[in-house]
Amino acid sequence: MADLAEKIRSLKKEKGAVILAHNYQRPDVLDVADFIGDSLELARRGLEAQAEIIVFCGVSFMAETSKILTPDKKVLLPSLAAVCPMAEMVGVKEVRRLREEHPGVPVIAYVNTRSDVKAEADICCTSANAAAVANSLPGDEVILVPDANLAQYVAAETGKKVYFPRGFCYVHSKILPEAVSVAKEVHPDAEILLHPECPPETLALADHIFSTSGMLRHAQESDCKEFIIGTEEGMLEVLSRGVPDKVFHPVGGVCVQQKKVNLQRVFDCLNEEKNEVFVEKDVADKARDAINKMLCLKSL
Ligand code: 13P
Ligand code: SF4
Repeated sequence: MADLAEKIRSLKKEKGAVILAHNYQRPDVLDVADFIGDSLELARRGLEAQAEIIVFCGVSFMAETSKILTPDKKVLLPSLAAVCPMAEMVGVKEVRRLREEHPGVPVIAYVNTRSDVKAEADICCTSANAAAVANSLPGDEVILVPDANLAQYVAAETGKKVYFPRGFCYVHSKILPEAVSVAKEVHPDAEILLHPECPPETLALADHIFSTSGMLRHAQESDCKEFIIGTEEGMLEVLSRGVPDKVFHPVGGVCVQQKKVNLQRVFDCLNEEKNEVFVEKDVADKARDAINKMLCLKSL
């Protein structure tokens, strides 16, 4: 494995490539990454990267977002089977149906969507900025796709009426209040940090609600020494590396799709420059507008 990691590092240099990894990636993949972060940070890093090749260690919507923002770069996805199931739950038809039902109401596409869905939206959001994006829009109603839990969180945070379909993350929707309450009983001094994809009844127990990287920043800055972490369990590795003197208790499960990326696949895709991600030009042009509107918001 160490040998493979070394080979990846020298290939990176030789080809002028950069490796971006989402917080849920395997530890040995994190080790070869140039940058590790949440969806918003990774979108920004891809845009700023001074590299001809981006190896995107995450799921397909993240790699496509990077390709849309930097169409001249070669964006490689180590496993083409790494597809977020929630991003597949809502298609263009559903967005158009919601627009017809609620004429004039702006559409927010969570970044966990397919590119053609982003192309239908007025603006994108991530878990780090969903409420701020909703607040940036005129009026007191928004449509948000695909995650029903994120939509209800945005409604609670902003006081806006939010229309949403029934999309969900199979990892976060299984983080139930009972599990969080038991963890709190066992670790009474721990702060509860939850991801906004968790159900509303679970979020009601949170001390703080954050994106994955938001959790890391908070754990670094907080006076608290112990945390209950309600997100995909790979986040524990990132938290333990970033804040080694504090203790983290997981209540989340595993995202199988994120774990489809492994070191061998990172090597193979960089070595052969295979699994390149493409987005049709007219879809990419419209989706880029929606992503850029989010990136350009002053408050974010
Ligand atoms: P973050 O942007 O908070 O990392 O979330 C991405 C994701 O897929 C959560 O399940
Ligand atoms: Fe998608 Fe959930 Fe996996 Fe995130 S954790 S990539 S939302 S399935």
